[in-house]
Amino acid sequence: MSGTASKIAVLPGDGIGVEVIAEGVRILRRVEEIFGHRFDIQDGLVGWAAIDATGTALPEATVNLCRDSDAIFFGAVGDPARDSSLPPRERPEPVALLGLRKGLYANLRPAVLSPHLASACPLRPEIVAGGIDILIIRELTGGLYYGLPKGRTPCEGGERAVDTMTYSTPEIERIARVAFDSARLRRNRVCSVDKANILACSQLWREVVIRIGKDEYPDVALSHMYVDNAAMQMIRNSGEFDVILTENTFGDILSDEASMLAGSMGMLPSACLGDGSATPFFEPIHGSAPDITGKQIANPIASILTAAMMLRYAFGFNDAAAAIERAVDETLAAGYRTSDLARAGGTQVGTSEMGRQIESRVRRDETP
Ligand code: IPM
Ligand code: MG
Repeated sequence: MSGTASKIAVLPGDGIGVEVIAEGVRILRRVEEIFGHRFDIQDGLVGWAAIDATGTALPEATVNLCRDSDAIFFGAVGDPARDSSLPPRERPEPVALLGLRKGLYANLRPAVLSPHLASACPLRPEIVAGGIDILIIRELTGGLYYGLPKGRTPCEGGERAVDTMTYSTPEIERIARVAFDSARLRRNRVCSVDKANILACSQLWREVVIRIGKDEYPDVALSHMYVDNAAMQMIRNSGEFDVILTENTFGDILSDEASMLAGSMGMLPSACLGDGSATPFFEPIHGSAPDITGKQIANPIASILTAAMMLRYAFGFNDAAAAIERAVDETLAAGYRTSDLARAGGTQVGTSEMGRQIESRVRRDETP
């Protein structure tokens, strides 16, 4: 053991966040043993858990902890059953999630269908035969989520509500570069998804992406698709996609669609990255799932793969990240399944048992 410890703020949050993050932490501890890295892990309160304890979904102490950490490992927030007790702008999703994502403009959401889970994918076998390996690059700090004006005002007959979609040239340039750089490490193709037949934001988006591609990444194949068509082609021709580059709202929707291509929502990790000034943020995309909370049936794989993304993108521990991904794959190959993957057959296990099975398979790659 040597070197300084990497500081990780662990924020389990609500619902199954608590159960799945515990398994991610289990794997991080295993990585410490095997690879000799040291993690200084500090827990923080977020979401309803934080509201109950402190009155707010993102307490000052958590903000400070995150600011002083090298990475944030986040579970989930939200509980629709309690939403009516708070005005929308005080609920955990906008306060905690959008608060912690500030400055993190690049959301990486990989959707990979393991060959062992082909039968968990709702698409017919001949459609997924060639495999699915898509990386969605979702712009995360612009568009409808943050644009002003935003809100509701009284008007004749009731109320008027407005959300504003806005994008500037620099915002598009920087996310486009993330997509092109990512494509160079993969199959060298970017499909930029927009609605340029209607939206001004998308027209600017397309122009900027074309220019960056031509000037800086002539080696990367660039294509464009309208978002409605992309939603359809992702089902029809899933294997055709490499990197999908898109704005905030389209990326939110398409990444849920992509999660089903991977067999289950419980399989998708994500990373939120910025320019280095804000602490990078890592979360499984599945949310708090109150309906299955506390039953020890949630799939921890998204959380464990999220830990792997954190090791790769926050710390550059590529060997450890690859070891985790290999361990997940071997565990699936050995037939272990959580209930969301039941369609793929095999041995059904609970959340912790899945975590232990993966933990036991994390090892150094001994091949030269
Ligand atoms: C996601 C979620 C969030 C989003 C919600 C909970 C605010 O759907 O991470 O995809 O829309 O970004
Ligand atoms: Mg979403």
